[in-house]
Amino acid sequence: MRPSAARRSPQARRAPLAARPGLRVKSPDALLAESGTDLDGNGLARSMGLFQVVCFGIGAIVGTGIFVGLSDTVAHAGPAVLISFILAALTCIFTAFSFAELGGAIPVSGSSYSYAYATLGERTAFLVGWCLLLEYGVSVSAVAVGWGQYLNELLGSLTGWQLPAALASPPGDGGIVNVPAVVVLLLAATLLVRGIRESARATAAMAVLKIAVLLLFCAIALSAFRDGNLTPFAPEGVAGITSGASVAFFSYIGFDAITTAGEEVKNPRRNIPLAIMICIGVVTVLYCLVALSAIGALSAGDVADKPAALSLIVNHVTHSAVGGGVIAFGAVVAIASVVLAVMYGQTRILMSMSRDGLIPRVFARISPRTATPVANTWIVAVVFAVPAAVVPLDVVMNLTTIGTLAIMAVVNVSVMVLRRTRPGLARRFRVPLFPVSPLLGIAFSLYLIYGTGRATWLEFAGFLVVGAVVYALYGRRHSRLRTAQEPMPDEGAQSSEEAHRSEPAPLS
Ligand code: ALA
Repeated sequence: MRPSAARRSPQARRAPLAARPGLRVKSPDALLAESGTDLDGNGLARSMGLFQVVCFGIGAIVGTGIFVGLSDTVAHAGPAVLISFILAALTCIFTAFSFAELGGAIPVSGSSYSYAYATLGERTAFLVGWCLLLEYGVSVSAVAVGWGQYLNELLGSLTGWQLPAALASPPGDGGIVNVPAVVVLLLAATLLVRGIRESARATAAMAVLKIAVLLLFCAIALSAFRDGNLTPFAPEGVAGITSGASVAFFSYIGFDAITTAGEEVKNPRRNIPLAIMICIGVVTVLYCLVALSAIGALSAGDVADKPAALSLIVNHVTHSAVGGGVIAFGAVVAIASVVLAVMYGQTRILMSMSRDGLIPRVFARISPRTATPVANTWIVAVVFAVPAAVVPLDVVMNLTTIGTLAIMAVVNVSVMVLRRTRPGLARRFRVPLFPVSPLLGIAFSLYLIYGTGRATWLEFAGFLVVGAVVYALYGRRHSRLRTAQEPMPDEGAQSSEEAHRSEPAPLS
């Protein structure tokens, strides 16, 4: 808790902005020291090379967004979905430059949360961590719902029987509870608490499988391509393209997960930026191809809002359920890997925040038996099984999207702040066209936030208010940086100011 004015000395009351609780920053050097590494990448075992990092990125990116969200994007934009994908990609590319510079300069786990802590102060870092609950936690709910759609499709093509809507959809979508989505979350948690993650080889295999399934889809769908399906190109005009871009953005989420693996990447200053760029380039080409083939084979009106749309299209083209079953099988395996990767990311971010004292210690507790954060993982699985079970897919996707876009705007600000506060920090990758690129990253993020619509803005505003309250009541009082930096009452501000002398001052 903030010391009362009566207990603070006059010097303390004149403490610099950086010493105020919410503006405490954690220096990049402290972050690196805590991670057990240094700026040259010495320290922890670094086992991932460029190819593995790219596979890890594709593993985290390609999932429900393209397999399921495509039909939602088409419902907004029609054939102009291609423009929506390109707008979403541009947003990611400008922001990816910023992630790449920060990931190369501060190669530690924790990603945007750590970058905000090093540049904008603790309160913003907490809120970024809070938004990461949307980018990872709510996202894992959305991804699990998408998985359920393809599982049902696979069941249908294997046995001719599907789960009834009551057990496969939430109330807003004509059902009662989405059982498959809950099941996949609990399965993922069971694997993670046993320390079973995808091995590097399995991650690479999964990335190749996803690309292969999507290319197979394109090959089949393109055989029935009708260019007449591309007109009218933009039935809902610019508004449809904008809201479509916001929906399409979901399918790019995850590229920043590469920076959460910062401590395990060989030569991180070269490989992290390069891997991010390669991943975004590959998935953009792939998504545009998939979208073009889908609409070419079946009109935009027939694709719009259909569950498991890629299987549906293949069944339509091949006049058989076998092709759709193959796509559904690929989707079930591929999306399950996203569930695992995203849930893993969420537990590690919560561990970082817990170690910083900003959330309860239970999230950092490691089981001596399995050497994994068991309680943390089960809390994540159970909490996010609730939206997966009862909230419609578009609502959880929109919340994930707006939270991620807000984080991206902050990351672009962070890169500008770090250039100003630590100009001499070694950076292997520097954002090109600085500061135009991060400014464009911010502009595009705000544009896509605008495209999510009023209901999502209001839900997000409520979510942020709750986050600010949690920080005020818990995070600020328990912050370990505060314990380390704040003076004892009778030591006045001198030691506080000394503690901050070596820290970069945030922009105010
Ligand atoms: N981009 C991830 C997906 O589409 C979240 O599943």
